[in-house]
Amino acid sequence: MYYSEIGKIIEAGLDRDREKVKSFAQLLAKKMEADGEVRGSSRITNIINKKNLGRATMDSLVPLPVDQESRMNIVETDYDPQADSLILAEPVQLKLQDFMDTIQNKKRMDDMGLEFSQSLLLYGYPGCGKTTAAAYIASKMHLPLVTARLDTLISSLLGATAKNIHKIFEYAKRQPCVLFLDEFDAIAKARDDQHELGELKRVVNSLLQNIDDYCEDGILVAATNHQELLDNAIWRRFQTVIEMPRPGVLEISKMMEQFPKFVKTSEIKDAQWKKIYQSMSGLSYSDIKKIINNLSKKAILSDAIDLNMENIIAEVYLFKTHGDYSKEEMALFLLESGVPKRRVIAYTGFSRRKIDRFAERMMTDE
Ligand SMILES: Nc1ncnc2c1ncn2[C@@H]1O[C@H](COP(=O)(O)OP(=O)(O)O)[C@@H](O)[C@H]1O
Ligand SMILES: [Mg+2]
Repeated sequence: MYYSEIGKIIEAGLDRDREKVKSFAQLLAKKMEADGEVRGSSRITNIINKKNLGRATMDSLVPLPVDQESRMNIVETDYDPQADSLILAEPVQLKLQDFMDTIQNKKRMDDMGLEFSQSLLLYGYPGCGKTTAAAYIASKMHLPLVTARLDTLISSLLGATAKNIHKIFEYAKRQPCVLFLDEFDAIAKARDDQHELGELKRVVNSLLQNIDDYCEDGILVAATNHQELLDNAIWRRFQTVIEMPRPGVLEISKMMEQFPKFVKTSEIKDAQWKKIYQSMSGLSYSDIKKIINNLSKKAILSDAIDLNMENIIAEVYLFKTHGDYSKEEMALFLLESGVPKRRVIAYTGFSRRKIDRFAERMMTDE
């Protein structure tokens, strides 16, 4: 059941890699505890502590890789307990779950001679949860997330890039973790820059080589907003590919349940909520989160903590126009979103006649 961890510990012991022994022993203890093997787990923890290795987390044990010249860290490590609030459409959730299940059953697959690499590519529109999903996977698997942003890596000198890439993979191999390569398309985008072509090819090849080596054992997640930039050689590397789409009505409705408690929305009826969700279609999760924040902020500032339908839809309008706003257009947006005329009149202060004219215009536009 714990073969994979025990195997790693033996391997690390034979390599005389103290930190690796410890980090995999900690992982083993954590897994056993989660399975209810509390006594066994605490015995392992005791051994670790007795050897006076302390309770340190992986980042203090294994030094973070740094760029030779700038001395800046080229990865970040993180353990994000908040990643649980990921909201996804069911098919996407199922695919993610399937990826995690497969990894958890790697030993069984290996035994059956089934080869697969533990690699996942997430792609889709910005703000739809790719970075959050990487943290979610790590958190669900009780592993730290090691993040490297390829855009910042590539922007450094190419010569150093290949070295940095190698360092990242070496670092990730030394402890149980999920390695996350964010902004993965940066590797392809660099082709348009002035970098020398041969040199770039070497960097790309070295990245692919590192991915192949790493994925025999390690868990890799990569994310990109520009899937069209990735070529076949890159796509082929990934066992699982998942598109992270923009939220549909159901996901929007779940996002909208996330208002802070002090903001009351009980005035809003079900049919009105439907219109609110529709007014938000096409927005990303992150857009919706910003709208919720803006509304909450306004609710505090104006002491008006009861929101109604037109408050929210007007905020959607403001968000979509990035503040370049005309009150006439806002009135039109409210009408189009299904806010009743009398409410639009009250909200905008426009005359009945003006609103009637808008409504007529809307009808003829259609
Ligand atoms: N599926 C989601 N469920 C809940 N919140 C989300 C989701 N996707 C994005 N968000 C919110 O939007 C923010 C940005 O998302 P992020 O994961 O960085 O998007 P991406 O990496 O796809 O550009 C996150 O901090 C999170 O709060
Ligand atoms: Mg991201």
